[in-house]
Amino acid sequence: MKNKAPIIINTISNFLLWRKNISGSIGFVPTMGGIHKGHLSLVKKSVSYCDFTVVSIFLNPLQFAKNEDLNTYPSNTNDDLKLLSNYNISVVFLPSKQEFFSTNFSMKIVEGHLSKCLEGQKRPDFFPGVLTIITKLFNIISPSHAFFGKKDPQQLLIIKKLCEDFNYNIKIVACPTVREKNGLAMSSRNEYLTKDEKADASVIFESIQEAQLLIKSGVFSIFKIKSEMEALLLSCPNLKIDYISFSSCSTLIEYKKTLKKNSLVSIAVFLGHTRLIDSFFYPDI
Ligand code: PAF
Repeated sequence: MKNKAPIIINTISNFLLWRKNISGSIGFVPTMGGIHKGHLSLVKKSVSYCDFTVVSIFLNPLQFAKNEDLNTYPSNTNDDLKLLSNYNISVVFLPSKQEFFSTNFSMKIVEGHLSKCLEGQKRPDFFPGVLTIITKLFNIISPSHAFFGKKDPQQLLIIKKLCEDFNYNIKIVACPTVREKNGLAMSSRNEYLTKDEKADASVIFESIQEAQLLIKSGVFSIFKIKSEMEALLLSCPNLKIDYISFSSCSTLIEYKKTLKKNSLVSIAVFLGHTRLIDSFFYPDI
């Protein structure tokens, strides 16, 4: 059967009109554009799970600090729509900033624990911005399911917490990280990397695989695992480590000496000017 092109909806009122006339499960894939294979894997999963799939494209200014890359973020709506046209998506929701913030918007959703470490410590505006916009989108879209990548594990955990704390009856589906051939985790920001930096970035996944091998062979000493990861990462002269962290995947509290079951191992590095993150759950979730 031929795939149907999605309906493009630009206003909240038109979206609500569409929403009123359908019944069945609705899968939601929020994006900021810059669509790549990682997003498309979320879309495919939603289409296979749900009766309807809604993809939003909204470059959310609230989650960027003043010194960050809001103005250069690699998002091109025409390219994005082309990529999204072949997957049986029901609606692409493209709200405008004017309408989204027309109420002289003054609310902020702030999470008090999980968002204070790792990415939240390095980028204090990020999670309040994400949570505020996702709350707005959940309220408008009223999905039954929402699809988030394990590529951003802290975001995934905090969105799950948002649903628990605010009683959203939305199933959050965690989807695997999609990687380039050399292991680099797909991300819109990979566009910033030069060809050489992209090649160098393979050490990030190599360090993850090394850590996974060590754990599989019974090594749980954080000192040992971290040293091996650092040695691999620093074999690339252009790379600077921001952090390597071993934390509980429910509280995100750091493990100091010994890796326990149900943990999150996360890495942030700078490659040239670009900041990249990667991670894995042990065991996988
Ligand atoms: O992961 C992202 O692309 C963004 O943080 C999200 C979830 C679309 C919110 O703007």
